[in-house]
Amino acid sequence: MAMGFNKMLRFLSLKHLLMLSMALNLSLLLSRLIAESESLRFKIQEDEKSQERGGNDHYCLVWGTRDNTCDTSTSDQSTAHVSKNTSPPAALAEDIEVEKAIQPDSVIINLDHGDPTMYEQFWEKTGEKATIVIPGWQSLSYFSDISNVCWFLEPEFAGEVRRLHKLVGNANTDDRHIVVGTGSTQLYMAALYALAPTDTSKQPISVVSAAPFYSSYPLMTDFLKSGLYKWGGDAYTFNGEEPYIELITSPNNPDGFTRKPVVNGTGGILVHDLAYYWPQYTPITSQLDHELLLFTVSKSTGHAGTRIGWALVKDKNIAQKMTKFIELNTIGVSKDSQLRAAKILGAVSDSCTDSSDSESFFEFGRRLMTQRWKQLRHAVRTSGLFSLPEFTSDFCNYYEKYSELHPAFAWLRCEGDIEDCEKFLRDHKIITRSGKHFGRDIKFVRVSMLDRDKNFGLFVERLSNITSENKFP
Ligand SMILES: Cc1ncc(COP(=O)(O)O)c(C=O)c1O
Repeated sequence: MAMGFNKMLRFLSLKHLLMLSMALNLSLLLSRLIAESESLRFKIQEDEKSQERGGNDHYCLVWGTRDNTCDTSTSDQSTAHVSKNTSPPAALAEDIEVEKAIQPDSVIINLDHGDPTMYEQFWEKTGEKATIVIPGWQSLSYFSDISNVCWFLEPEFAGEVRRLHKLVGNANTDDRHIVVGTGSTQLYMAALYALAPTDTSKQPISVVSAAPFYSSYPLMTDFLKSGLYKWGGDAYTFNGEEPYIELITSPNNPDGFTRKPVVNGTGGILVHDLAYYWPQYTPITSQLDHELLLFTVSKSTGHAGTRIGWALVKDKNIAQKMTKFIELNTIGVSKDSQLRAAKILGAVSDSCTDSSDSESFFEFGRRLMTQRWKQLRHAVRTSGLFSLPEFTSDFCNYYEKYSELHPAFAWLRCEGDIEDCEKFLRDHKIITRSGKHFGRDIKFVRVSMLDRDKNFGLFVERLSNITSENKFP
């Protein structure tokens, strides 16, 4: 070893040694810098999340830590918006699968978000029929159709939206303006901007929704502290004497019931959020024809990551204002995403009109939802500690028969002396969203029914094993 080193020295001049030492120093410096920037990035993320939650919250779920656990003991209102990715990145999925196989009881089951991964199975099977390739020269321009009120709306996407609504019969698209948005979340904000009176000398208009309401409404409404509108709370307790905007979510998130306006005041402006008005969740009882309807691919086809929603708007002036909002917000909406959404919606329509024996998209969704609700009701009965809403069936114009509601979320109530249902389930390693985020009490939680089979299976199994004998782990 010493011989070898001496031999090597003979070949190296002083210049070589100097260069070698500089290179070593540089690499040490670089690795130190990388380590510093990593820890800084981690710290910034941590601080941002902490600020988002009011500054004193526990940090939860930064992927890359290999730890998919989350201390939600101080979860507050701000955690109720879909802003944290709780699914593992692909690289970790296998390890977690192995862990599940070894100790299913120790796995944390996270059903907080309505992440629609249940639909992956269908789209995997659909393969090429739902695949697009976008060549490098395509979609360069900001503009899609300058003759349209919504100048960034891709005609192909608009065509597939109209085709699918006609086929399902859930909304009238004749003489309607289509405004596309980056998810229906952006359209929600565009709608508030477009509908709120512009006279800023008056009080901001109240935005209300009947409790339990979608937990993101209050957060999205008050996030920018607009002078035009403000969150007004539960529509059931709103007096309705002053102007207001009422959000009607039907079927409702979180409890799944079909909704109608509840305020009945004279100065009311209505926005219908119809994210779940599709045949896999609910009977299609009529073709809706209101002033402003919101839809999204997130819950209709399961493509939440594509971030595409659309509004059907009767009044041209409102459609123009919504378009302006999006123009100033993001200068339009990704063409790539619109083209992908067009392909997906087209594939859904094709699957419904296809004469072959293969299951249509809605049949697939309905079959899975029916099965899951059956499993969940069975688990609730076995446990004896919970209850669920009961739904009546209705005539579905799409299926041309009576069918039942199978909502995308379960609105679960803890019975007896369990006061804080979210905490109770968290102690059993089941993460849900507390009723307090939806304008209701903590006896309730919302549970996503849209997760992958494996996760949902673990959930119903664990729920059925929680009984009065082993209530407190
Ligand atoms: C009622 C309702 N509206 C809107 C959204 C948001 O949809 P998007 O992903 O299109 O922004 C959701 C998502 O959970 C929802 O439940």
